[in-house]
This record gives sequence, structure tokens and C-alpha cells, in this order.
Amino acid sequence: MNQIVEQGKTLLVVGPAAVSVISGKAEVLGFPVNDKRRVVVREGKQLPFFITEKAVFDISLSENASFEEVEGNTIPDSWTDAAELLKGFHKRPTVAMVIGRADTGKTSFCTYLVNNLVSVKQRVAILDGDLGQSDVGPPCTVAYACVTKPLIELYELKAENAFFVGVTSPSEAVDKMIEGLALMKAEIMSKPVDFIVVNTDGWVEGEGAVQYKAQLAEKLEPDIIFCIQQRNDLSPLLETIPSKKIVVESSFAVKQRSPEKRRLLREMNYSKYLVGAKVRSLPLNQLKLEEKLVWQAKQDAGKGLLLGLYGTHRKFLGIGVLQNIDQKRRTLKILTSVSATPVSVVFGKIRLNENFKETHFSGSNVAADRS
Ligand SMILES: Nc1ncnc2c1ncn2[C@@H]1O[C@H](COP(=O)(O)OP(=O)(O)OP(=O)(O)O)[C@@H](O)[C@H]1O
Ligand SMILES: [Mg+2]
Repeated sequence: MNQIVEQGKTLLVVGPAAVSVISGKAEVLGFPVNDKRRVVVREGKQLPFFITEKAVFDISLSENASFEEVEGNTIPDSWTDAAELLKGFHKRPTVAMVIGRADTGKTSFCTYLVNNLVSVKQRVAILDGDLGQSDVGPPCTVAYACVTKPLIELYELKAENAFFVGVTSPSEAVDKMIEGLALMKAEIMSKPVDFIVVNTDGWVEGEGAVQYKAQLAEKLEPDIIFCIQQRNDLSPLLETIPSKKIVVESSFAVKQRSPEKRRLLREMNYSKYLVGAKVRSLPLNQLKLEEKLVWQAKQDAGKGLLLGLYGTHRKFLGIGVLQNIDQKRRTLKILTSVSATPVSVVFGKIRLNENFKETHFSGSNVAADRS
């Protein structure tokens, strides 16, 4: 279906949908879409096309998809100011951290910052610390990727390395989160990048969250923190963290997702990393494992536990799903699409069924989780 949209308006498209600009010009979070490129809007996602020159769109909608036109730009002025401010930093690399509750627009804001920086030839690394709604690595990991070209979604990026945390909620793995993000940051620091943009998880309210974010800021030493605030929800955090902070707004067009939808998005993401997975038998004596967890896994058969697979030099290879521990043959049977030989396997606490759907873990109900 064709849709004509006037300059200065925004076309908001909710996926699953495919959109092409037949004529005219539009921008998605700072990414210029002015050719015949087909933009895919994934299920559960919304993309804003801001019209910079009267445009004709070709839109194909799948079930439950929709679109609407809204007046003006859905990118708040404070986002534009933030991007300009960041471009003015001379330190290399400059580290910018983004903090905000779930569904405030953290990923969109990071994408907007990245696009603004790469458009002026800056080399950017995105360090994705949003464990439950990860864009760069698989769910339950923190990961990074380097960006040199503008992009529509961080999800397009391929992780250069990742750290497997093994849960979807940072509150269950504070120390691991800090360790993982610090390790990834140290690795990025050895690369030729001008900016590091750190996205974080949406756990921001309550004493535990404030302490955790303060510790993280202390460890990662950001030069600036952008706080996406809604209704003063970040006040205690803003008071606690000593780094330079700038408050930015959440877009009026931000779209909330239910916990079920968030889980569904995560499950689609597990499937992406497990596509073509085969069962492999790995000899236990050739693997580095956390003994305590292996013992626990044996106790309850372990089937379905999410695993993180590493090669040499802490290189993350991918995820797997535990099938069983064969005591007689001393092997670990796992379902994975990783073909390289892992040298170490880390046990997660998430359990997936045969369709890669999350089941219960650690006695808590995943559906009730806001991760
Ligand atoms: N400036 C904007 N214009 C239009 N839509 C937006 C904007 N910012 C965010 N959205 C939409 O709101 C939804 C939530 O945004 P986003 O995924 O960026 O938030 P988030 O804080 O990263 O969420 P999560 O907690 O799931 O990681 C998305 O569908 C996104 O497309
Ligand atoms: Mg996000």
C-alpha cells in the first residue's frame, strides 16, 4: 500500500512490517532512508520515519502491524542537544552511558547517538549492557560491537565479543554484570574508537538498583551519563552518581511493551542464535567448567539450562542449551549452532524448552519479571 506523508511529519510503523521510500526523504533515528531500501520493522518494534522531504512510502503490513502519521519529530530536542554535546567531547575515547527505566527509549536514543557520531566520521563502539532486552549479543549476555556506518537498529550489529551472565535480570547477578561490562570495556579500550556508548538495563528504582548503577558508573568511568527520565523516576540515582549527568526526555511516541511481549522478543532472540542448532557431545575433561553449577545441574538433570560457550582468550562463541550430563561417558551434551570447539562452558540459570521458550528458573517466575 502507498502512503504519502508531508515534510515535517513522522510516520510511526509498528511491525512486523516492511517499508520502502519510493520518493522523497526520511530519517529513522538519524539514519537517512532516501533510496529504495526496504526497511524491515520487526515484531514488537516501532520505527519512526521523520519526513525531511515529502515522501511516498510503500508499506506492507503483516498481522497485528500498523502505522500512523503524527505531527512533528518524535525525536525530542533534548536528544538532538545531547548528540551535539557529545560530538564536542575531545577526549578519546569519550565514554557515554545511557540510563533509563525499561521502555523509555534507551535503545532508540543509543541508536540516535551512534548515527549522529558516525555521520561525522567518528568510530563508535556500542557496549550493550541491557541483559534482558539485548540488542547486540544474545539474551543473558552483555556484548559490544564497533560501528562505522549509520544503522536503523543496533540489532543489525554482530557482537565482536560478549560476556555470558546467564540470567535476564541484573538484580540476580550484580557482580557478574559489573565484571562483564568492565571486561568488555577494557577490550574496547584496546581498539581504535573515538566514542563508547554504553546502554544499560532498565533496573533503576530502589536502593539495590541505585547502588548497582553507582558501582557500574564508578567502574566504567563514563565522561557523561545521559539519563532518560520520566516523572522524576531517576531522582535518587541522579543524587547518588557523581559523574557528569544530563537529563534527556523520553519521546512522546515511546511504546510500552508488556512483560509477555518482552519475553517473546527475548525468545525470538534465543532462536536467532540457535538457528540450525545440533546436539554436540563435549568431553568433560577437555572443558573448563564451574564445578558447583555442574553439580547442581546433575541434581536436577539440568536439561534446558542456557549455556555460554567460550573459545580461547575469553572469546565468546555463542549460546547452547544443555541436553544432559552423561556420567558414564563423561560428556556434556549440548544443543548449539556453534561449530568451533569451546574450551569453557558457563552455566546460566535460565531454562529453555525445546521451542526455546523460557520456563521457570531459580524459583522465580520469568513472566513476572520486568527484564
Ligand atoms: N524517539 C522515538 N520515536 C518513536 N518511537 C520511539 C522513540 N523512542 C522510542 N520509541 C519506541 O518505543 C519503544 C521502546 O523504545 P526502546 O526500545 O528504544 O526503549 P528501551 O528503553 O531500550 O526499552 P527496553 O527496556 O525494552 O530495552 C520502541 O518500539 C521504540 O521504537
Ligand atoms: Mg532497549
